Amino acid sequence: MANLDAPDSPLGGTDEAVDGEITALNKLLDDAERIVVFTGAGISAESGIATYRGAGGMWTKYDPDKYASIEYFRKDPSYYWSFFKEERHVMMVKAVPSASHRAVADLEKQDRLSAVITQNIDGLHHKAGSTRVLELHGNTTRFYCTDCRAPYSIEDVAKIIETQLPVLCTKCKGVVRPDVVLYGEMLPTDVIDEAHRETQLCDLMIVIGSSLVVYPAANLPYQAKLSGAKLVIINIDTTPLDSVANLNIHRSAGEVFPQAVALLE
Ligand code: APR
Ligand code: ZN
Repeated sequence: MANLDAPDSPLGGTDEAVDGEITALNKLLDDAERIVVFTGAGISAESGIATYRGAGGMWTKYDPDKYASIEYFRKDPSYYWSFFKEERHVMMVKAVPSASHRAVADLEKQDRLSAVITQNIDGLHHKAGSTRVLELHGNTTRFYCTDCRAPYSIEDVAKIIETQLPVLCTKCKGVVRPDVVLYGEMLPTDVIDEAHRETQLCDLMIVIGSSLVVYPAANLPYQAKLSGAKLVIINIDTTPLDSVANLNIHRSAGEVFPQAVALLE
């Protein structure tokens, strides 16, 4: 029976419902021996970085086959670089970790978390203090020359994009690219192998902010479930794996996850 005078949470739940979810999540965290957190763009939405799908997602405005595919990057790298200059560069440089990123780092500090597997390329888990970070899709704060592989930081690139698009290598004039996995490219094998190992060994996987529609990353939570782990999905929208999760929380991560971790102290 809903507590009718409880102020509604922004997503239409009641405080009582939110408290219930925080308690259930806290119990699963406390009972677990080896936790893996799996994150997507939703955890960084609270840091001001746009998601790809769902309300206001990037792919509702830009064509991923152009902006995020290796085939198009090779054909016309200035398309990627002008998009990066308009949309992503400032976001990535300015973004700070959300309370949920910090809570993931707290789980590692408490020696409860064995890895955070992320699809995100924003580097915010590192910025929050996490060290066991498996970046399946790379990291867009790192760049390199496609010819001589000279490394470039996001600060180096920030200087060059003011006067030059696409960004060319200062050493050999080759085209500079982000150290991310573009559509049509393979995931880094060492990272995906380690992610599979962590997935098989964990007894609790927490998904935070992913639509779980991009493979092979989206295989991992299901694999965790098949390997006997409990599965929690914290995601505003429904996902294809909701039906197999032990706990679904359709709210902003910041409403429940930091609170459930803080109760562990
Ligand atoms: N808290 C929890 N969930 C949220 C929040 C939030 N504050 N904000 C948004 N979400 C949810 C949305 O409901 C959405 O389902 O986060 C999800 C983000 O989904 P996507 O934008 O599809 O991001 P992701 O799952 O990480 O995409 C996977 O697709 O284009 C590729 O390489 C890109 O790594 C990316 C991959
Ligand atoms: Zn070069």
